[in-house]
Amino acid sequence: AVSDSWPHDLLDWYGAHARVLPWRNPPGAALPDDPDWPYRVWLSEVMLQQTTVEAATPYFHAFTARWPTVAALAACDDDDLMQAWAGLGYYARARNLLACARAVVAQHGGRFPGEEAALRALPGIGDYTAAAVAAFGFGRDAVVIDGNVERVVTRLLALAEPLPGARGAIRAALATAMPAGRAGDFAQGLMDLARRVCTPRAPRCLACPIAATCAGRQTGAPEDFPVKPAKKAR
Ligand code: ADE
Repeated sequence: AVSDSWPHDLLDWYGAHARVLPWRNPPGAALPDDPDWPYRVWLSEVMLQQTTVEAATPYFHAFTARWPTVAALAACDDDDLMQAWAGLGYYARARNLLACARAVVAQHGGRFPGEEAALRALPGIGDYTAAAVAAFGFGRDAVVIDGNVERVVTRLLALAEPLPGARGAIRAALATAMPAGRAGDFAQGLMDLARRVCTPRAPRCLACPIAATCAGRQTGAPEDFPVKPAKKAR
């Protein structure tokens, strides 16, 4: 069926158009044989939580030059870290960063665990970051869902239910569609598609590699997804 091919169409598009980012593995490539790779992924994901790629990138380079391993970060002076973080904002993230690095050293011998459950047990790591580190850092088949991915999938399926109720259907659809062994490329392909093509307003459906299977496009109003919750009567 046509609808079965969209994950591969997305991966093909990602293979040709992936953004090059310093914490990102090139599409289709094996993960780097670098024990600190998951650390770099985790650091980037924490920085990207409330910060754009453009703003986070110089900080990522500065941090990895100064603290190349999670053990080095765990051993740093708290004030040095807060100073290096200045400008990124949301200082609770910086405090959690240090708490997490120290927990990885104390509880895991200085290596991030690869299982989502063990990752979620670390300070400051929620469902999204656990899945991202498992998939991008370890090559695990984890389902990585952020707000941008939610927009793409609610459109693809023309989900009538607003968020957060639609999350179960989004997760189920992605878990089914995700090609085994390609979770990282699949999720990062969805992220790039969300930013470059399936934008919040005026999505560029003519440039979309999965437009043929997109139910939202067929409605003629893909922008209407995700559906806004009905206003509460007062
Ligand atoms: N935002 C959060 N993680 C990202 C990633 N790996 N690539 C692009 N954007 C992201």
